[in-house]
Amino acid sequence: MIEISFTLNGEPVVLSVGPSERLLDTLRTRLGLTGTKEGCGEGECGACTVIFDGLPANSCLIPAFQSQGRVVETIESVSPDQLEALHASGATQCGACSPGVVMTALWVRRNPEILATHSLRRLMAGNLCRCTGYGGILDGIEAWLEEPGGGGGDVDASSSENREAAS
Ligand code: FES
Ligand code: FES
Repeated sequence: MIEISFTLNGEPVVLSVGPSERLLDTLRTRLGLTGTKEGCGEGECGACTVIFDGLPANSCLIPAFQSQGRVVETIESVSPDQLEALHASGATQCGACSPGVVMTALWVRRNPEILATHSLRRLMAGNLCRCTGYGGILDGIEAWLEEPGGGGGDVDASSSENREAAS
């Protein structure tokens, strides 16, 4: 076992992990944070997305020991009150993809300047959804980005491209 310490949702965590233990399992089974979902387990679907040192990352691909000294954020750090726009747009059906979608969208919300060079559709390409057809997800994220702190001006510039790609 390897003892690691890292910051999880703003709180310090110290625990011992196995050499092949995935961060996804550490979160779900060791720490009880079951909001992060497992879909493919192979880095393809994005259901397990967390924010890892400021960037969205697939926690199914991260060995837990690599969290040593890092800052990890999960869906549990996001208040449901912040997600009204996503609920209202029909972004969630079965909900399996939703935690990962929210974490990637949160990263975009914190870094709106990236929308000057990348469409929202492209930025969300790592988060697959089998239910919604993506239109509701993109509309909901755009609305969330328009809310205070979301850098909405840049969103408008990419909206037509996003809608075209989603159709
Ligand atoms: S479960 Fe991690 S990318 Fe699919
Ligand atoms: S809402 Fe079911 S996979 Fe996205």
